Amino acid sequence: MAKSMSQPVAKSVAWIASLLLFVGGFYTSPGQAGDAAVASPEPLATAVAVEVLERGGNAVDAAVAVAFTLAVTLPDAGNIGGGGFMTLSMNGATAFLDYRETAPAAAHRDLYLDANGDVMSEASLTGHRAVGTPGTVAGLWAAHQRYGSLPWASLVAPAIALARDGFDTPAWLVSYAEDIRERFSGTTNFERYFGELRAGELFAQPELARTLEHIASHGQDGFYRGAVADAIVAEMERGDGLITAEDLADYKPVWRRPLSAAWRDYELVTAPLPSSGGFAIIQFLKMRDLLTSAFAGLAHNSPQYLHLKAELEKRIFADRARYLGDPDFVDVPLRSLLTENYLRERIATVNPIEPSITESVRGGLEPRHTTHFSILDFDGNAVSNTYTLNTDFGSGVVVTGAGFLLNNEMDDFSAAPGQPNYYGVVGDEANAIAPNKRMLSSMAPTILRRDGKVAMVVGAMGGSTIFTTVYQVIVNLEDYAMDPRDALAATRVHHQLYPVNTITYSPTTPLPEATVAALQERGYVVIPHDWEFGNVQLITVDAEGTVRAASDHRFQGRASVLAR
Ligand code: DON
Repeated sequence: MAKSMSQPVAKSVAWIASLLLFVGGFYTSPGQAGDAAVASPEPLATAVAVEVLERGGNAVDAAVAVAFTLAVTLPDAGNIGGGGFMTLSMNGATAFLDYRETAPAAAHRDLYLDANGDVMSEASLTGHRAVGTPGTVAGLWAAHQRYGSLPWASLVAPAIALARDGFDTPAWLVSYAEDIRERFSGTTNFERYFGELRAGELFAQPELARTLEHIASHGQDGFYRGAVADAIVAEMERGDGLITAEDLADYKPVWRRPLSAAWRDYELVTAPLPSSGGFAIIQFLKMRDLLTSAFAGLAHNSPQYLHLKAELEKRIFADRARYLGDPDFVDVPLRSLLTENYLRERIATVNPIEPSITESVRGGLEPRHTTHFSILDFDGNAVSNTYTLNTDFGSGVVVTGAGFLLNNEMDDFSAAPGQPNYYGVVGDEANAIAPNKRMLSSMAPTILRRDGKVAMVVGAMGGSTIFTTVYQVIVNLEDYAMDPRDALAATRVHHQLYPVNTITYSPTTPLPEATVAALQERGYVVIPHDWEFGNVQLITVDAEGTVRAASDHRFQGRASVLAR
């Protein structure tokens, strides 16, 4: 083991909470060149990152500590029982770590079909059979092995303290757990672990604290082998789940070449397959620029602007459905899908006035909790990390004795061709279930670099709305010269091929009625999205080096800029 695991920093919760006083708000006043910054979806996690960076940790050290902390303080999405993606810019070079869950070896194409061949949609969402082999702990370990500078155990220590001693239960956590209770009751042990939450009372998770202690002492082996692995396997056996000791022992995160593209003055560095997120952002930005004259002078979120955006979304989601899946299992013509010639052909059919007919847009050659955080360290290194249990609180299954929730990522496969998943997105053979395969994702942790230096660190949650959200934030900043606060505050609008010609907007920041009426006139159904999406965590560094950070005001996060 390359990195020392000794010297745990025994932090108390009171001490972590005291840091909250110094960690900013949704939006912080700009810092200076060389400052560090954090934007995370939960204040205690931001406080932990601030402490790690001030202790001399780099962006990866802070990311590891934040990820473990969120597994305690944001249990609906932060996790050790899920998986994710990390985009990095470290020491001037970019990298990408895929720690997505995999289908257990016993999974097969028709796993979620009943005897008549009909899809059992609840089976891929709730309970033991919905769980993919978790990747988070192996991913954080791999990132730390390659880049970490502080001892591993010291980065797990704050999470251990928060799990062991508890933290004041925020009202939002009580209401999230309340909202999901019914779905999980009877089929999972969720109630036993999250049934007693009371706002303002201490929420301690002693089993989770012990699990984290194993991880602190033994690294990834503390999760994939030994007592914690045994508890996962026992939990699977209790509920007819598929994950075995071999699945756990065999799990491997993958360092992949990030998907990158030149866009305007930037090098855009983002998620490759098995996420569709990076692919989509590049198609979006490039098609948008090929349509420069059509977009010229359009007011932000005007009906014409939103119509053209929906036309792009239709084409992107059609390609996603038709071609994309785990590149280790299917041949995806990604290069062809991103060439300028191909994108020119795609935009040639954009209808400037009316919605294109959905059925004619095909591949040209096809409740929701994830969480993102963005970190910039004092040396200009950055981590953009999105990880997930898939929907709120994942499968609802807690590993008995180990105290953590397991994902329901299996729902991101297509259970049958054309069958929409939880997010309403469809897929085909490329994303069919196969043993050890990774399910297609939309997560899009992204970094933009200017002259080799980090200029933007951005990402979001929200299933299929993730990359449409990231695209909007980039365009708000670049084309509409918004500052980070306004770029996040602006109404977000989404279209995804199906339901036909349906445009949704973020429910807490609705579109003006006149805009809705104008889009309806063109044939769109315009409605509020039925849940709030985005939770964007953004850091920007302008050409002068000024550092800004912003956390989506619709949620509970905290952004902080740390003076050098
Ligand atoms: O990987 C994906 O695309 C989904 N499992 C992400 C889920 C998500 O963003 C839920 N958040 N609201």
